[in-house]
Amino acid sequence: MLTEPSMKTMRLVEEMEASTTGIETAVTLPAELYTSESFFEFEKDAIFMKEWICLGRQEQIPNSGDYFTFTIADEPLVVVRDELGAINVMSSVCQHRAMVITDPGSITEDEWHDPPTGGSGSFGMQMRCPYHFWVYDLRGQLVGAPEMGKTDCFAKEDVALPSLKVEIWNGFIFASFDPDAEPLAPRMRQPEQMLENWHIEDMVVTGMGTVEGLPWNWKVMFENVIEIYHADRLHLPIHEMAPASRMVMTPFDPDDAMVVSRARTTRPDYSFNATEAAVFPVIDTLTDEDRAMAHFGIGPPTLSFGTSSDSLLYLLIIPRSATTIDMHYGVLVPKEYLKMRRFNELSEVASGGLYALTRQDVAANASVQRGLRSRFAPRGRYSWQEEPLAHFNKWLVQRYRRELEV
Ligand SMILES: [Fe+2]
Repeated sequence: MLTEPSMKTMRLVEEMEASTTGIETAVTLPAELYTSESFFEFEKDAIFMKEWICLGRQEQIPNSGDYFTFTIADEPLVVVRDELGAINVMSSVCQHRAMVITDPGSITEDEWHDPPTGGSGSFGMQMRCPYHFWVYDLRGQLVGAPEMGKTDCFAKEDVALPSLKVEIWNGFIFASFDPDAEPLAPRMRQPEQMLENWHIEDMVVTGMGTVEGLPWNWKVMFENVIEIYHADRLHLPIHEMAPASRMVMTPFDPDDAMVVSRARTTRPDYSFNATEAAVFPVIDTLTDEDRAMAHFGIGPPTLSFGTSSDSLLYLLIIPRSATTIDMHYGVLVPKEYLKMRRFNELSEVASGGLYALTRQDVAANASVQRGLRSRFAPRGRYSWQEEPLAHFNKWLVQRYRRELEV
């Protein structure tokens, strides 16, 4: 006998079929998919525990012992570089009494009701839980546990932090909770081809930041990134050099890890800042076609990106609840640009344009979420310029269906 939530989920998945046809006939996903906490719980199993999750960039942890923390689906993780140079991703939940080992061992009175979490830094050669000083090596193996000699049948060798599968793709660190996850690289053909000439494996991240508690569903955010229909409407005049009418159709396979979209720009090296041009030197390996195209990609549940001729902006969208996300962002540039004399000032020009775009997207996303809560939220129809959304719907529904079949 199915429990009530799973019957409800099955009904919802049935209703989604109408969103998975071609763009000419498809309707938007049911509003409940963006507002229901029980559906969000289902998505944890269907997507967050199955897909490859982008956590950040390898250059964030250049040395042995360097780490950063990341939480998704209520799972606190630690990403650490070990003494052999390999990157490991582990649960940071101590296998003794469950303290998160990267959390501080002391906090101020102001922080009692909103305790800070991990962050980033260096462990040195070992990770130590602040609570009882259980010590793990950089691969998560327990190597020290004080006063456990009188405990029956306890062997340090039997205890380790649960580890995730890891794959590095072009400098991005991906992990999967699913030990049977298929390799990521073959499922990244589209973005691989698209970004080939940027050589993002050699780029470095700059201008990183985090925004917490944005009040909309994670899919609202991904739809906003991948859909070009609003580019020369909501974003007038900033985006008018890459108008939706110049969208280039892109083939799509729901087994791929990412959905991508592209629009030809009205002139090469267009960028969204006030100068309307790339502010750093154009990457010298780009073709003329690369330079006259805006590329966007989403790799749920976290990665999204957009290109310029001089850089690549990525956003890591981190689902927190049905109606909340956190966001990490960074800009990738060729390493040598960091040495430019006025790099910081140029970065400010570049990010000024992105902030202007972001202010508009934030307004739209928050408002869409408000509308989705309404009893009058539509199963709306699409424009041909929203084709990437039909692709995203297919991507999602394939994974929801798979989870129900198990
Ligand atoms: Fe936008």
